[in-house]
Amino acid sequence: MYLRYVFVVIAFCFALAVSAAAADEYLSPALQTNEVILTPKPGPAPRINGPEVYGARPGHPFLYRIPTQGERPIKFSAKGLPRGLHLNSHTGIITGFTPKAGEYTVTLRAKNKYGKDSRSFKIASGETLALTPPMGWNDWYAHYDRITDAKMRQAADILVSSGMADVGYQYVDIDDCWMNCRRNNDPMQFGPFRDQNGNILPNKHFPDMKALTDYIHAKGLKAGIYTSPGPRTCGGFAGSYGHEAQDARQFANWGFDLLKYDWCSYSHEVTNPPSLADMKRPYELMGSLLKQQNRDILMNLCQYGMGHVWEWGAEVGGQSWRTAGDLGNSLDHIFQVALNNSEHAAWQKPGAWNDPDYIQIGWVGIARKYGQPRKFPFTPTEEYSFMSLWCLMGSPLFYSADLTRLDDFTLNVLCNPEVIAIDQDPLGKGARVIFVGDNQFLMVKDLENGGHALGLCNATESPVDMTANWSACGLSDAQHVRDLWRELDLGDYTGSFSARVPPHGVILVRLGAVK
Ligand code: GAL
Repeated sequence: MYLRYVFVVIAFCFALAVSAAAADEYLSPALQTNEVILTPKPGPAPRINGPEVYGARPGHPFLYRIPTQGERPIKFSAKGLPRGLHLNSHTGIITGFTPKAGEYTVTLRAKNKYGKDSRSFKIASGETLALTPPMGWNDWYAHYDRITDAKMRQAADILVSSGMADVGYQYVDIDDCWMNCRRNNDPMQFGPFRDQNGNILPNKHFPDMKALTDYIHAKGLKAGIYTSPGPRTCGGFAGSYGHEAQDARQFANWGFDLLKYDWCSYSHEVTNPPSLADMKRPYELMGSLLKQQNRDILMNLCQYGMGHVWEWGAEVGGQSWRTAGDLGNSLDHIFQVALNNSEHAAWQKPGAWNDPDYIQIGWVGIARKYGQPRKFPFTPTEEYSFMSLWCLMGSPLFYSADLTRLDDFTLNVLCNPEVIAIDQDPLGKGARVIFVGDNQFLMVKDLENGGHALGLCNATESPVDMTANWSACGLSDAQHVRDLWRELDLGDYTGSFSARVPPHGVILVRLGAVK
């Protein structure tokens, strides 16, 4: 047992800092470029990924691309697909209309010349959407006020060509600045807010919204849009104030599947500070309007955590809500963000998600304010930590960075299906936090199958030997441990599990009680 322990710790350290001769070299700037890909490359045989359960409203258009890794062509089939749904056997995209309320258990199958895979998939037709945390890409930290139709189409293309869609990234979301504004250096964004009938007008970078969502949908992906309940968005573009019903209808007619509703200038419409009723009102209104549309549209509340939004975000019709302000470009505190967000874990459940903001690793785009594109300020270890923390929390997984600069390392961090499965676990729990030292904590997430995910989180500046005692974690005395990043079984551990965790590192494992 002791020997196995020693082996495991050595293996971990080796993998996380391959060329670091000593532990304190983790801090060396050289490591910034030492990008160790921990996850084995997916093989050519099919592997079906994605959530095990999927919620949709009866009678509404249904769209689901079966996230599947493996070399194309793959032949897809499905057993038990309810009437009204059709699977394209070449693309793996299911379309049609959601059947009447009820649960439908389907077996999805994928086959190519290298092998086959199958998986059970439950379609839950009913009122609850987003039974697992939504996943996708949002343009904000890539394009800011330079977003165009062409860039959105390119994003949809890359989600597919990069393999991100094959592990479950699904929504392609336009953030702020698709409308007109009053003053701007870019004449393409300058124009009337609405037509003579009060319909919101996209700016000239978006010549045809319906054609854009059709393009995204044709790939089996979904489209998201953004507005504010105030007269102006945070970027100073046209908001929905006074036109909420018309805008909700318009978003549905254009074919959008998600709305991010950003408080912004709504502050000017209410008392300062706003009362709880003031905070809820615009979201209650939009939530009920979206429900009246003839398609499923998720609502992401963006109001930075005001009024304990986690307590009422679901009640007003939201599927997710930002729990704090923008993560922005000062990302030196992701562990603190995770700790703060985790305080609200009790409010989280299928269909109702705490949103600590986007995954910001890789490259930030060219922003009005920030000048030239640049890399987010993370070491490779911190990129792994970012993704590990977000999955332990069960957060929506929206990547927001420049897709055109994705490299193999960042892609590997974003696309490990076993790590993502922790996030997408149907039980919908956020991890509980157990402090084991200054800036050192464990995160334990209960999983549907009775197992657990465990993160050993070191927010300090030095490598630390950390131990998870099973009893302190509320777990039985013998646990099978699997290293998720490396997709490797480490064996059975009695009493505890220990690992050397690099500075700002998270060791992420899945546990199963040994029978
Ligand atoms: C902020 C929001 C960001 C982004 C931005 C657009 O309020 O938190 O995520 O949407 O507005 O102006």
